Amino acid sequence: MKAVIVCVSVSHGNTRRIAEAIARPLAAQVVEPEELDPADLAEADLVGFGSGVFTGRLHPRLRRFVHALPATRQPCRAFVFATSGLPEPGFRPFTRPLERRLAAKGFEVIDGFTARGHDTWLPFKPIGGISKNRPDARDLAAAHTFAAALTARTGSAS
Ligand SMILES: Cc1cc2nc3c(=O)[nH]c(=O)nc-3n(C[C@H](O)[C@H](O)[C@H](O)COP(=O)(O)O)c2cc1C
Repeated sequence: MKAVIVCVSVSHGNTRRIAEAIARPLAAQVVEPEELDPADLAEADLVGFGSGVFTGRLHPRLRRFVHALPATRQPCRAFVFATSGLPEPGFRPFTRPLERRLAAKGFEVIDGFTARGHDTWLPFKPIGGISKNRPDARDLAAAHTFAAALTARTGSAS
């Protein structure tokens, strides 16, 4: 199985740390959207898409990349992951809009993962930010477990 993880992590590298933890069990490469020719995804069996959350949405670079993707011609599974300063509202998961867009492109979206990440966005700057020291060891372990379960579902990493 070939897995690729497309990650935008601009603020503190929070999402990149989660991406690396997910990548290990999947033997996946972590790349930025601009490093990847969308045609390269044609060879992938599983693709992860992740970024931090900015004013309630995933990063525009990630959204633009997915928007520009052609419809998949062969079955390809996908998952979306995110880090955020605030907890994810249960009624409006951060990952849902991108999951819907990927499904519309023909991806089979099989799972999602979110974790908290240190957030020094303006309103929280005076107090040194929120979700300090996140993602922490437990978050990274949860990301690893998430990926191990994906590996079990989609076939062993190669
Ligand atoms: C301009 C800006 C806007 C943000 N908006 C939100 C938000 O709406 N909700 C939230 O939970 N976190 C928000 N955050 C916090 C980021 O989602 C969090 O720090 C994330 O882990 C950043 O990931 P990165 O380090 O991989 O870029 C915001 C951060 C910045 C800088």
